Amino acid sequence: MSSNIEDIPAGKGQAVGIDDLSVYVPRLFLPLAGEFSTNRGIDPGKLIKGIGIERMAVPDRHEDAATMAAMSLLDLMKHSRLRPEEIGKIYVGTESALDEAKAMGTYVIGMLEKIYGKGSFQECSTVEFKAACIGTTFALESLSYWLAGEEEDKVGIVIASDVAKYPLASPGEYTQGAGSVALLLKKNPRLLALEQIYGTFTRDENDFFRPMGCSTAVVNGKHSNQCYLDAMQGAFDSFSAKALKKGAITPGAGECTTDFIDHLLFHIPYPRMVEYASAAIFRHDWRQSRRWKEIEEELGPEPKAQEYEDHGKYQAAEADYARRFAKSEQFLQAYAAKVRDTATLSRQIGNIYTGSIYLGLASLLESQKIHAKERLSFGAYGSGCSALFFSAIAKQQASSVPRRGLVEKLEERRQISLQDYEKLHEGKAEKSVLMPCKEFALARIDHQGYRHYEYVE
Ligand code: HMG
Repeated sequence: MSSNIEDIPAGKGQAVGIDDLSVYVPRLFLPLAGEFSTNRGIDPGKLIKGIGIERMAVPDRHEDAATMAAMSLLDLMKHSRLRPEEIGKIYVGTESALDEAKAMGTYVIGMLEKIYGKGSFQECSTVEFKAACIGTTFALESLSYWLAGEEEDKVGIVIASDVAKYPLASPGEYTQGAGSVALLLKKNPRLLALEQIYGTFTRDENDFFRPMGCSTAVVNGKHSNQCYLDAMQGAFDSFSAKALKKGAITPGAGECTTDFIDHLLFHIPYPRMVEYASAAIFRHDWRQSRRWKEIEEELGPEPKAQEYEDHGKYQAAEADYARRFAKSEQFLQAYAAKVRDTATLSRQIGNIYTGSIYLGLASLLESQKIHAKERLSFGAYGSGCSALFFSAIAKQQASSVPRRGLVEKLEERRQISLQDYEKLHEGKAEKSVLMPCKEFALARIDHQGYRHYEYVE
């Protein structure tokens, strides 16, 4: 097997990619097993195993997507010893917009200037990317092209920040979460060099959307799972064809694209979805490989639509085959080696929409699973719907970038009652559960709708 990894990332100029990242998660959480599962009449096993989420992060009364974005950026700047004048652009991916016109990044810059001084970010531009959960990834793709041509050696920041919110007692409720991830993009990055191969897929769908004025999403749950899988497969095929054409991946006889990928990261609306997505992609990709013979020996041949007069019966046979494939030894091994560890943090946080896939990256970094020259693929998905499949190569320093102790930090959070969670969810909490401390906080919204933020020591 040859992957040409030594030759790839730089392209024409220097490699561009992810140098560091910071994650911010609210300090409150609600466990799904216990008061919540009892009250909603759901078997906790379904939530913990069937969905894969143990705790969902809940934003306090003084928090919103802008404060969380400012918190992740502040941590990134402190950690990377970054000065405001070094930052050329801040792109914010969010579907939790706070204004129909004003870019969230301007509020974020306003908050950061309370620390770094008024006007310190005035040469930095900011724009908001909206495309459901894939917004941040489109921002990253766009920023990577800007960075490649940047001549003043400025760096770029991509921030994902969202509050995932569904109606109380709906099937989406137990996949909620909240948080922000800030990514530092620069030339000659320490962590990951982007290969600049982007496979795309787009289709108009009604799987998940939030009409103007609604605070929670409308979701057609089962349909949304299928849209995700269709789009992911389309983007994967587009990526494979481009990677082959570029010579980044050069499969020999009996080999296939995923043989050349060490870690597959996917958008994580809930951890089980990553299992469904990786099973769909491996099954699709392995059909080209020598491994497929062994799969057929174990599971028998795949059902074929033309062999069924009744489409419903074909669909049932197909679902049964997919279930058996997901339990096959071959899949379980590949899943454990290349996918499973990406969901560690999401189990404790829930869906953070556009940043979820980068929580997957943080999970791998925290468990020190990324080693030099490994190839990582990212399968981003956004409802509506679009998918983008791209890749990056781990740099020599990747395994030496210090852990941030995120798993330990999550243990320091405060558990809240179902009653407090419901009050916060419905905007009925009169005060914060935990008073703001060393953090940005929404102080008030004035009569014109402008939001006033402060940094509370
Ligand atoms: P649901 O009806 O709650 O769950 O819907 P289910 O009945 O499909 O069960 C889920 C799994 O739990 C099944 O596993 C059950 O068997 C199992 P499977 O059969 O597939 O292997 N189960 C149990 N396991 C253990 N013990 C038990 C038990 N009972 C059942 N006792 C759904 C789930 C995700 C659809 C729902 O929660 C929902 O609508 N969520 C919101 C939408 C969503 O997250 N969609 C994901 C794809 S779209 C996306 O990712 C985009 C998004 O992030 C937004 C954006 O782009 O902006 C959402």
